[in-house]
Amino acid sequence: MNMTYVLYAHNILRWGVLLFGLWTVLNALTGVLAKRRYNNNDNRSNLLFMVFCDIQLLIGLVLYFNGAWFTMIKTDAKEVMKDSAMRFFAVEHILMMVIAWLLVHVGRSMVKRSNNDAKKHKKMLVYFGLAFIIILAMIPWPFRSPGIGRALFPQFN
Ligand code: HEM
Repeated sequence: MNMTYVLYAHNILRWGVLLFGLWTVLNALTGVLAKRRYNNNDNRSNLLFMVFCDIQLLIGLVLYFNGAWFTMIKTDAKEVMKDSAMRFFAVEHILMMVIAWLLVHVGRSMVKRSNNDAKKHKKMLVYFGLAFIIILAMIPWPFRSPGIGRALFPQFN
C-alpha cells in the first residue's frame, strides 16, 4: 500500500474529526446552559464525531505499523525518546489520540446510560469536551516546532 495516499487521507480527515467534535461540544454546551432536551441533533453530532474518530484511528494504525515510526521505536527506543520530533510521532501522538478515542467511546455509552437529559448533556460535555481538547493539542499543527509541524492540507507534489 502506498503510504502517501494513506497520509493524505489522515491529513484531510482531521478536518472531519474537528468539525464534528466542535459541533458536539457546542451542542453539549448549549444543552447544559439552556437545560434543553437531549435531542436527535445531539445524538447525531456525537455519533458522527465517534465515526470520524474510528476511521482516523484505523488509518492512524495503518500509518503507524506500516511506516517507519514503529520500526524506529522497536529498534532504538532510547534515541527516539531523546528527540522531541521522533518522540511526538512514535509515542505521544498515538498514545494521546488513542486516549481521546477511548474517551469518545466511553462518552457515547455514558450518555446512553444516563437516565435524564441534564445528565446526558453533562456527560456529553465532559467526555467529548476532554477528547476534543486532547485532539486539538496533539495535532501536528504547522506552528509546532520544525520536526513536528505539518501542513494544514495534503501537499500533492
Ligand atoms: C482524532 C485523531 C487523530 C487526528 C486528528 C490525527 C491527525 C494527524 C495529522 C494532521 C497528521 C499529519 C499528517 C500529515 O503529515 O499530512 C498525523 C500524522 C500521523 N498520525 Fe495521526 N491523528 C489522529 C490519530 C492517530 C492515531 C490514533 C494514530 C495511530 C494509531 C495516528 C498515527 C499517525 C502517524 C503515525 C502519523 C505520522 C505519519 C508519518 O508522517 O509518517 N494518528 N495525524
